[in-house]
Amino acid sequence: MTIKRIAVLTSGGDAPGMNPAIRGVVRMGLALGLEVYGVERGYQGLMEADFHPLLLRDIGGILGRGGTILQSARTEEFKTEIGRRKALHNLNGAGIDGLIIIGGNGTHQGAYELSKMGYPIVTIPSTIDNDLCFTDVTLGVDTALNTVLDAIDKIRDTASSHQRAFLIETMGRNSGHLALMSGIAGGAEIVLIPEAPMTPAQVLEGIQAQYALGKPHSIIIVAEGHRPDTQEVFEYLHARERECGFTVRMTILGHIQRGGRPTAAERVLATRLAVAAVENLTAGHTGVMVGLVDNKIQLTDLAQVVSCHKGVDLRFYDLATTLEFGRAKLAKPVVVAAPPELPRLEDNGRTKVTLRAPEEL
Ligand code: F6P
Repeated sequence: MTIKRIAVLTSGGDAPGMNPAIRGVVRMGLALGLEVYGVERGYQGLMEADFHPLLLRDIGGILGRGGTILQSARTEEFKTEIGRRKALHNLNGAGIDGLIIIGGNGTHQGAYELSKMGYPIVTIPSTIDNDLCFTDVTLGVDTALNTVLDAIDKIRDTASSHQRAFLIETMGRNSGHLALMSGIAGGAEIVLIPEAPMTPAQVLEGIQAQYALGKPHSIIIVAEGHRPDTQEVFEYLHARERECGFTVRMTILGHIQRGGRPTAAERVLATRLAVAAVENLTAGHTGVMVGLVDNKIQLTDLAQVVSCHKGVDLRFYDLATTLEFGRAKLAKPVVVAAPPELPRLEDNGRTKVTLRAPEEL
């Protein structure tokens, strides 16, 4: 079948990089002589026939903008066959021959179901969670990482000024990728990820060891999927501040991680994936996701994509623990004993603690 008219949509959680990807799809599509339509609000717009042609001027100036000009949505109805039939009816009615879908995990489930109904689809992986297999990185990750890093740097300033242990919660759903990478890039003392959980008591032990090393702060990055969750770890530590040595605070970064101007790497990746998506859709290579593996475009069947769960690469966790928490472990035999009364400050402004030699333990 010759493809003459294509559509593009963004679905699920927005991610920086979606706009440059839309731009790439439209520009490449028009360059190949296709008509390109934009679908508003993801699968919801597909079911409501909310789509319109996209021309060059419609995508002007979006390369450096966060979010998605097409808007996004999470919809339950598309998970049903009735919902998907509505979408197919609307696509066929508008003479749209193929679809490029930009989104994350849930979006790929929907794309797979629709492609099984015989509709030509190519997907572009986009989520700050980086939890899709068959691509080294998803759109949104690089920008989100830089946003988290900026926050860590700022929080460290205030944490050091007040001798505090700070829990910083990152997004990532069930994946620890964002937490781990930002922890490495930000020099966090401890990183808590779902793939390598720690008990609050272990975190306390780590903080004590950092304190004993003379650090003015302790930065603990917590992935939102870690169990026990950030609040629980915070309450445990907050109730034991004297044992920590530091006072304890918590910041949940939340949705600022999803916004912001896409970085240079993001824009380049988005453009490469968009061009590959249009080329493959028009060449009839459909029912696939375009990913980037070892810096090369790779196509993977949607069936494989949806049946794979990508955890973090635990070699990076080892790296982080060797450089940071590992040092704490080296210092482990020196344990900080909680002062009996309220801590008093020494001349240098630090809380006085008593250190016991290993043989005393
Ligand atoms: O999947 C992206 C993501 O930002 C996750 O990291 C987070 O758990 C979730 O979406 C938040 O979803 P919502 O914006 O619907 O609250």
